[in-house]
Amino acid sequence: MATISTHLIVFLIPLLLTLLPASFSRSHLSTTFYSKTCPQFDQILEQTTTNKQINSPATAGAALRLMFHDCAERDADINLSLPGDGFDVVVRAKAALELSCPGVVSCADILAAATRNLVHFVGGPYYTVLLGRKDSLISKSSLVTPSALPKPNMTLDQMIDIFAKFKFNIQEMVALSGGHTIGFSHCSEFASGIYGYSPNQQYDPTYNPQLAQGLEKACSGYKNNPSLSVFNDIMTPNKFDNAYFQNLPKGWGILASDRVLFTDPRTRPFVEKYAKDQKAFFNDFAKAMQKLSLVGIKTGRHGEIRRRCDAFNN
Ligand code: HEM
Repeated sequence: MATISTHLIVFLIPLLLTLLPASFSRSHLSTTFYSKTCPQFDQILEQTTTNKQINSPATAGAALRLMFHDCAERDADINLSLPGDGFDVVVRAKAALELSCPGVVSCADILAAATRNLVHFVGGPYYTVLLGRKDSLISKSSLVTPSALPKPNMTLDQMIDIFAKFKFNIQEMVALSGGHTIGFSHCSEFASGIYGYSPNQQYDPTYNPQLAQGLEKACSGYKNNPSLSVFNDIMTPNKFDNAYFQNLPKGWGILASDRVLFTDPRTRPFVEKYAKDQKAFFNDFAKAMQKLSLVGIKTGRHGEIRRRCDAFNN
């Protein structure tokens, strides 16, 4: 177990570090980066992501979350919140790519392109992903600050500040939060809103009361069974669409950080827009994902091509 955990941390922290500011030059990147050195890149990746998603439908959500914000949390709470399928799809793609073009394709590129494929496979937008990232050479948990990633109990101000650090504005933050149109949340992430919210209220009043009641039942015993979880989008949980935004005005957001997007006037107009207009959501989500996939990346001699995604080469 300890060995597995160590491997996971080594795997994860470099991924998180891709969210931290670092030097990179866009000139190292291109959409055809592997066309000569690994011409089967697209085909191999497509095959791996499709197979994996068909066999394990939780993969798309796991990879998308991994792409954004799972790393520090996993380090902190290593056993409860494992989006194992997200790592697995990267590991599988890496194994297949190493057979065709050894030592050529980075794990960071695999994650970025696999996430794009998976989002598209479950109904979301297709967007181009620039390639040519290198994998990180350092991995220090001390570099992962607890406030680097948003948590569901943060205020909107805190969330806005975190996104602003990565140069995302409020609209981009709302569009990216639309990632919660797929995937799960563990009961512990929203339990405070359904079990004795305040001395006078059992439920957080921003919940639809029926939903809160349903969640209360679904999560009963979650302390003894920490793996209990519910879908983020109760209407179309496995489909990437704009139902997440249609849910929010009804109080059907699972996390407090989802519901606040409708209750706060700074974010509500974007929620209303995306609820009405799926195309606008897809467009803004795709652009924000392209931007996310470039934040703090390593290129050139600032990184390496790992042989295994869960270990440094040396
Ligand atoms: C706005 C601030 C955000 C907060 C506070 C937040 C928080 C969370 C939490 C607590 C979970 C449940 C984790 C668990 O119980 O395992 C979750 C799941 C998820 N998040 Fe976020 N998130 C945010 C933004 C985002 C963004 C920007 C994306 C992607 C673009 C994203 C993608 C996901 C996905 C896909 C899942 C489901 C994971 C799975 O099914 O394995 N989240 N998020």
